[in-house]
Amino acid sequence: MSFSEIYPVIWEGDRAILIDQTRLPAEYTTVAIADSDTMAKAIKTMIVRGAPAIGVAAAYGMYLGAREIQSGDRATFLVELEEVAQKLRQTRPTAVNLFWAIARQLQTAQATSGSVEEIKAALLETAQAIQTEDLQTCKDIGDNGLKALPKTPQKLTLLTHCNAGALATAGYGTALGVVRSAWQGDRLTRVYADETRPRLQGGKLTSWECVQEGIPVTVITDNMAAHCMKQGLIHAVVVGADRIAANGDAANKIGTYGLAVIAKAHNVPFFVAAPLSTVDFKLETGTEIPIEERDAKEIYQVGETRLCPDGVDFYNPAFDVTPATLIEAIITEKGAVKPEELKKFQA
Ligand code: MRU
Repeated sequence: MSFSEIYPVIWEGDRAILIDQTRLPAEYTTVAIADSDTMAKAIKTMIVRGAPAIGVAAAYGMYLGAREIQSGDRATFLVELEEVAQKLRQTRPTAVNLFWAIARQLQTAQATSGSVEEIKAALLETAQAIQTEDLQTCKDIGDNGLKALPKTPQKLTLLTHCNAGALATAGYGTALGVVRSAWQGDRLTRVYADETRPRLQGGKLTSWECVQEGIPVTVITDNMAAHCMKQGLIHAVVVGADRIAANGDAANKIGTYGLAVIAKAHNVPFFVAAPLSTVDFKLETGTEIPIEERDAKEIYQVGETRLCPDGVDFYNPAFDVTPATLIEAIITEKGAVKPEELKKFQA
């Protein structure tokens, strides 16, 4: 399988098919989802994860929910569709693509004249459009990232955190899309993948994608990044984002902020790669970004084994915010810009 065949969410017949990301890399399995409750659960339990992929899944979730509405009366239908939206909004708070996709579906419903059946058809079409657009967006991010990477005589070694790959998007990836484009453009020797505690998206998913693609990958634990930079092993860091504020502050997987601080200390440029659908222009700065807190079990338990003694308290924020001042450029589908220039893309 190559990355061009990794699609975490597809529509087949009358249902969505999701790669079950909780089982990779041990098992490649898919789950078929035919109702909105199951889609909401799949997002919450991270069968599908990664900001743009969550957006695509939510868009299909909106259609599935619409399909469940019995009423043929437009006004009643729109009220019930808002209830579906509310259910999906409650799944994960940080990735803005979730809210963006739901808002786009509500807008589609409002803007479609005609019968309830016609609105339902438009919702399916829009979900498919969101998916297709995101795939192209990721490829454009990859191309723009390749242009933005340091122009060195030697090929580059890049470091990434979490999984911002095909699995986290409609396909291809954002940060890992830049890695792929660098690989295809013969600019890359290797990618270092932070393991990414506690859910190990780097160790499990990024490494898996790289193996599928034949990209040389070295997995390190998160606390090894500074040492690798000091040794001169890393030329640039490229990460994804879950929500970017208007000033360029970027929320991404927990540990990203620390990585940016370390990169600054070692003069290693730090890039954020994300679609404009991840930019929340309503938020002035990153302090306004809601940070998801997840179950403490993710920290203290591996499989069935408890790692820490009873009587210990835990804190498990899933994301942190990297200040714009630490970011060299934000790589979007419309080009790579300094964080302070992001506002020029505001619609
Ligand atoms: O908790 P997750 O696995 O959904 O978090 C994913 C990330 O933080 C990714 O880096 C981010 O969504 C960018 S994905 C293109």
